[in-house]
Amino acid sequence: MRADNAPVIRLEDYQPTDYLIDTVSLAIGLHPTETRVTATLALRPNPAGHAGASLALDGDELVFVSAALDGSPLAADAYTASPEKFVLHRPPQQPFTLTIETCVNPTANTKLMGLYRSNGTYCTQCEADGFRRITYFLDRPDVLSVYTTRIEADADTPLLLGNGNPAEAGALADGRHFAVWHDPFPKPSYLFAIVGGDLDHVEDVFTTASGRKVKVAVYVERGKRERARYALDALQRAMRWDEEVFGREYDLDVFNIVAVSAFNMGAMENKGLNIFNDKYVLASADTATDSDYANIEAVIAHEYFHNWTGNRITCRDWFQLCLKEGLTVFRDQEFSSDARSRPVKRIADVRVLRSAQFPEDAGPLAHPVRPRAYKEINNFYTATVYEKGAELIRVLKTLVGGQHFRRGMDLYFERHDGTAATIEEFIACFAEASGRDLSAFSQWYEQAGTPRLSARGRYDAGAKTYTLTLAQTTLPTPDQPEKRPMVIPVALGLIGESGRELPLTTADGATDGGVLVLDGAERTVIFTDVEERPVPSLLRGFSAPAILDLDLTDDDLLVLFAHDTDAFNQWQAAQTVATRIIVRAVEALHAGGTVQVPVGLAQALGHFLDARALRDPAFAAQVLSLPGEADIAREIGENIDPEAIFTARKAVRETLGQALAGKLAHLYGELAIDAPYSPDAAQAGKRALRNGVLGLLTAGDAARGEALARAQFDAATNMTDRLGALSVLSLVAGEAREAALQAFYDRYRDDPLVLDKWFALQASIPEAGTLERVKRLLSHPAFSLSNPNRTRALIGSFAMANLTQFARADGAGFAFVADVILQLDPANPQVASRLSTAFRTWKTLEPGRRAHAEAALRRIAAATPLSQDVADIVTRSLA
Ligand code: PHE
Ligand code: ZN
Repeated sequence: MRADNAPVIRLEDYQPTDYLIDTVSLAIGLHPTETRVTATLALRPNPAGHAGASLALDGDELVFVSAALDGSPLAADAYTASPEKFVLHRPPQQPFTLTIETCVNPTANTKLMGLYRSNGTYCTQCEADGFRRITYFLDRPDVLSVYTTRIEADADTPLLLGNGNPAEAGALADGRHFAVWHDPFPKPSYLFAIVGGDLDHVEDVFTTASGRKVKVAVYVERGKRERARYALDALQRAMRWDEEVFGREYDLDVFNIVAVSAFNMGAMENKGLNIFNDKYVLASADTATDSDYANIEAVIAHEYFHNWTGNRITCRDWFQLCLKEGLTVFRDQEFSSDARSRPVKRIADVRVLRSAQFPEDAGPLAHPVRPRAYKEINNFYTATVYEKGAELIRVLKTLVGGQHFRRGMDLYFERHDGTAATIEEFIACFAEASGRDLSAFSQWYEQAGTPRLSARGRYDAGAKTYTLTLAQTTLPTPDQPEKRPMVIPVALGLIGESGRELPLTTADGATDGGVLVLDGAERTVIFTDVEERPVPSLLRGFSAPAILDLDLTDDDLLVLFAHDTDAFNQWQAAQTVATRIIVRAVEALHAGGTVQVPVGLAQALGHFLDARALRDPAFAAQVLSLPGEADIAREIGENIDPEAIFTARKAVRETLGQALAGKLAHLYGELAIDAPYSPDAAQAGKRALRNGVLGLLTAGDAARGEALARAQFDAATNMTDRLGALSVLSLVAGEAREAALQAFYDRYRDDPLVLDKWFALQASIPEAGTLERVKRLLSHPAFSLSNPNRTRALIGSFAMANLTQFARADGAGFAFVADVILQLDPANPQVASRLSTAFRTWKTLEPGRRAHAEAALRRIAAATPLSQDVADIVTRSLA
């Protein structure tokens, strides 16, 4: 069905089901092309529904085999079965069992939803609506059932895993064997999973706070066992952390993680059996970068934390997706902050929010954190639901305070454990725990768009007062022309020009705790006893997802950069100055002038590096990493010319690189590490800074940088240094680059995850020749559109991380990506649909490029057949 005709599903239409399914007993006979699934469902009328009419179960591409009611075969006129539906015409009005047999073909399943094979391993993906591709079901999250799963397979599939605890296993005739798994916790169908394969594993025993022993294991393809150790360690640290910080213990006897190479998303929190994209499991010094390690730690923790926030308490309907995702992202961010550097983690998270969520929120695909309507739920696993959803939890915590937040969480677990809940129910727990009215806060979930927060300050030296006026506005978004003010907690401080932090004194204690809450369109506060002219440090720690518009001069910002006690705002100040300089450079280039870089920033960076680089390299790496092209584009907002941004940014980096050349060269030497590789935060921080230093140095002096990069590439003992050097080399056209790329390929030709880096790096080269290169790589023997990671590496990187080439002036970049989307769509609509979101900012481009982007989108929209997934994205993008 085309999105244009697809029904709109609305939150306000929510109705409970007419029947409930208390238990599900599945017998699955694994077979590459004809897997038999026999499902026995114990149904009963839902007291909240209207039993008696007909009972319709969801299906998707199912082959129906047989059906029985209470053990007796159903008469032909008692039901209708199609690939999309099973309807029982006159269902009993008392409890009954329905047994349905279906047949599915895992090998032909290229959508990677339901039961499929990844490199020979059988695995499943059921969120959001994949269970209906395995058997007919009430496939929605508010139907909670206890599952027993019996899996049968040939001897070539010795490992059989399911949800819950292992119950039974044994041999059968003809070399076949079976395993039975029982999950005592009622769960929705989207958390169902099985795995069948011949895999290696690492395991350990985790003892919970109350002394229960849990067998924890990570399963990977043969030969990759050693690369699973970091994930296993991260899992156990996450388990301990959730006990200590949230009081949450694990609840089954086993916790299994399985890594597969073909996966649409990052990972999946199936009860007791998490299934992962192997990119978020496998790591070794030679194959994974420090950021890969950090991502693995975060995703392992994320999926584990879902056990409480998502599984024990799930979502009533898919509109409540942020109830599990925003909250669980918040929890994994906190975990990583505790494991590493909190300010550096905060900066990294805000970078992600701004680069992924802000553009979404400002464009045609904008939607509230809790959407009110959708056509295709798979298109709502967005940065808004995940990342902004996490920010809202942080805002909530800031508003009620840490203690009340923890009490609210405890109440939430206590009250809603074992149920499918809503955002209202979640917020009610915090209102109750804190005794506060949170109705205004809950607007955050309803209203799309990023609030713009403006701040104007005036110092009266005679009266020693500082008057600060904060105001907010939010621009219209699709279907929401009128915007209300949000509740914005503004964490703040005042820094004197002398560099000291000034006390915050107001007549009414408006900023107690260092947080001023703006809950209307405008608010003015007067600070008294302000001994010197202050520079305000606002939205400290990025206390709310807003765009801050400050009336500070560059000099004021450099005061914050030098003296702010809030590390986030220190970093932010340098970023803001750099952004302004690059934006001015873009304007100068447009006016036919040349790029000027004021000496102030270079000097400030120099002082900063002297004082902090070796003390806090991870933070210094963040400071040295200037705003990206997309950051500048967002700041400019409209009529974007990516070439001008690229040129301006490059010129600014060149000037800074030259001004700081001596310091950078010195630091590059100082930051070398002698010790053996460890992915820990301290070493990773040094490498991040050293690679950043190398990049800036090369921007200032290509020949010198290239020589250093080549030496680093040859001598590297780990992937971070090797890839860091290669990406510096990749920016300099010529023989050396091609030789390095070839050497890298030769070394890693049999390592899919590393080859992904090789493809991604080449797709990101900001040069006119890149499109041809990417087209050539499309027919490289190692390339395949049927592996999502590979597709994302080559096509996703080109479309999402190479602004000048994707948005080429001649439209060839857009046309190419449109071709690939259309080619991929029939096989894997979810990955095709993700790719098509690369066009989400097309309306901000200058008219020539905008016309090319529109033409590409219209061409996709007009194609037939077109999946509902892609049709939904392109239709909304064009609206
Ligand atoms: N629920 C998964 C997570 O965020 C994401 C996911 C969604 C995976 C849909 C697969 C399919 O943890
Ligand atoms: Zn999640």
